[in-house]
Amino acid sequence: MDGPARETWNARYRERGTEPGPPSEWLVSNAALLEGTRALDLACGTGRNSLFLAARGFTVNALDISEVAVQALRGTPGVHAHVADLEREPLPRDAYDVIVLINYLQRDLFAPVAAALAPRGIVIAETVTRAHADELRRAFDRRFLLEPGELRRAFPGLAVRRCEEGLVQRAGRPRAVASIVAQRPS
Ligand SMILES: C[S@@+](CC[C@H](N)C(=O)[O-])C[C@H]1O[C@@H](n2cnc3c(N)ncnc32)[C@H](O)[C@@H]1O
Repeated sequence: MDGPARETWNARYRERGTEPGPPSEWLVSNAALLEGTRALDLACGTGRNSLFLAARGFTVNALDISEVAVQALRGTPGVHAHVADLEREPLPRDAYDVIVLINYLQRDLFAPVAAALAPRGIVIAETVTRAHADELRRAFDRRFLLEPGELRRAFPGLAVRRCEEGLVQRAGRPRAVASIVAQRPS
């Protein structure tokens, strides 16, 4: 995906700016489950979720394909931001207490994400479902829409702590999403 995705997202961030905005509501609503010190924010964008985690004392590795987004995060205390194409970048194993995967769908990343969790580590994930196009009639590339029940089944070796699927308000707008918190056994 490298070239086109990178250029598309760079252009989007140049046009819209790199102000991070408020953190994911799903992440915030699960803040009580956050434990540990090491976090990974995948496809971090301009880092709204990295900033939330860093403010709670985590050391955050923040990865994104867009150097425009990553550049905006550089120098933030507690956040190590790197340009990385997740379709090529291997993840370390047993390394993170928290992994955040918000508004990014790459199905072959589910197993490496589970393997990158330390014992008792949690993944907090949310992205849009097929209903986003079918019910809300929003234009969206269907390759990046979750099927019904797909996120619940995405991490078979982990214990599902919370999982929801349906229409929600995100940043004041309706979205059809699936959301999960799943934990690696100790
Ligand atoms: C919808 S944004 C979500 C950003 C952030 N997770 C959030 O919730 O604010 C999707 C992000 O995925 C990044 N992205 C797209 N393809 C990627 C890839 N192959 N590797 C890494 N990041 C990618 C884009 O640059 C963009 O920042």
